[in-house]
Amino acid sequence: MSFTNRQLLLKTRPEGLVSLDNFDLREAPTAELTDGQALVQVLYLSMDPTNRVWMSDIPQYMPPVAIGEVMRSIGIGRVVASKAKNYAVGDLVQGLVGWQDYALLDENAMGYWVKLPPNPPVALPTLLGACGFSGITAYYGLAEIAPVAAGETLVVSAAAGSVGSIAGQIGKLRGARVVGIAGGPEKCRHLVEDLGFDVAVDYKADDFKQKLAEATPDGVHVNFENVGGPVMRAVLSRMVNGGRVALCGLIANYASGTRASDDYSVIIVKRLTVRGFLAFDYKDQAKAVQDLVGWVVSGKIKAGETVAEGLENAPLVLNRLFDGSHTGKLVLKVADDR
Ligand SMILES: NC(=O)c1ccc[n+]([C@@H]2O[C@H](COP(=O)([O-])OP(=O)(O)OC[C@H]3O[C@@H](n4cnc5c(N)ncnc54)[C@H](OP(=O)(O)O)[C@@H]3O)[C@@H](O)[C@H]2O)c1
Repeated sequence: MSFTNRQLLLKTRPEGLVSLDNFDLREAPTAELTDGQALVQVLYLSMDPTNRVWMSDIPQYMPPVAIGEVMRSIGIGRVVASKAKNYAVGDLVQGLVGWQDYALLDENAMGYWVKLPPNPPVALPTLLGACGFSGITAYYGLAEIAPVAAGETLVVSAAAGSVGSIAGQIGKLRGARVVGIAGGPEKCRHLVEDLGFDVAVDYKADDFKQKLAEATPDGVHVNFENVGGPVMRAVLSRMVNGGRVALCGLIANYASGTRASDDYSVIIVKRLTVRGFLAFDYKDQAKAVQDLVGWVVSGKIKAGETVAEGLENAPLVLNRLFDGSHTGKLVLKVADDR
């Protein structure tokens, strides 16, 4: 059986924000399956800052997406046809599905496919956010990269986003005093009133640095850093001597497609430990997922998603990560689940 597959192929590398013109929308029939292959109908795409990095021809942890290639993306889908031993029609899977309606799963090739439980304990978008890659990133960042202890002050940037909202809530579970940084009064209200952060500081406000100082009277012991640039500089200036930084992301730099250099003297003066990490490197994620699902199901952690719709909108929806017009995990619904 063949299906019509809409695919978004990278046509030109964006400069700044992504535009529809950077992509070709192609329709093609799905290919006949060979032994070991399964066809996956894409249900949800994970909209990740790393998608924007993958579009740029700069050194990174995976090869950039090539011109003419289907845009790479994590997503969730269902197997609709199978000649693979380990995957049956109806199986729910997560993997690098790409910006398309149907993805080819090849169990004999190196892939990033994971079979999901038939009746997941949380909604599918949550499996891409709080209980998926974002939650796993927050979990390992605070468990192994820069552990935070009870009574210490943790500052999380991009705190109302997917990784940040979970990092802050894990910090609260650990007994830390948690300060979130986000853009605008509504996101700051959300952090304190809905997610239980102790304080939230608006980095877009004129008095950001002063408010950050007031929010961190004992200094900052741990910084879970998602942003970089001026926001990170302001946080580093508040760190205690010997403070720890989990350097998770530098989203302030991604849309430019360039690399910023910075003044690192504060790291010397304050004897900071700054550790970069990739959640990707943690191959055994079972314990993290089990804990995250347990926290979400028991209500100890609140998962939140912003769900946009329509494969054809993917390039513009991705920009919402950079203008901040979303809260929690940003996902794109591509098709209804049966
Ligand atoms: N190391 C890893 O393994 C790993 C894995 C996943 C994600 N990450 C990183 O984690 C970070 C967050 O990713 P996410 O998926 O959770 O995205 P997200 O936080 O849901 O969305 C990005 C947020 O960043 C903020 N932002 C964007 N541009 C900014 C700027 N110039 N200055 C300050 N804030 C800005 C916006 O929030 P406001 O409205 O508050 O501005 C936006 O909502 C990214 O840096 C990403 O690369 C790293």
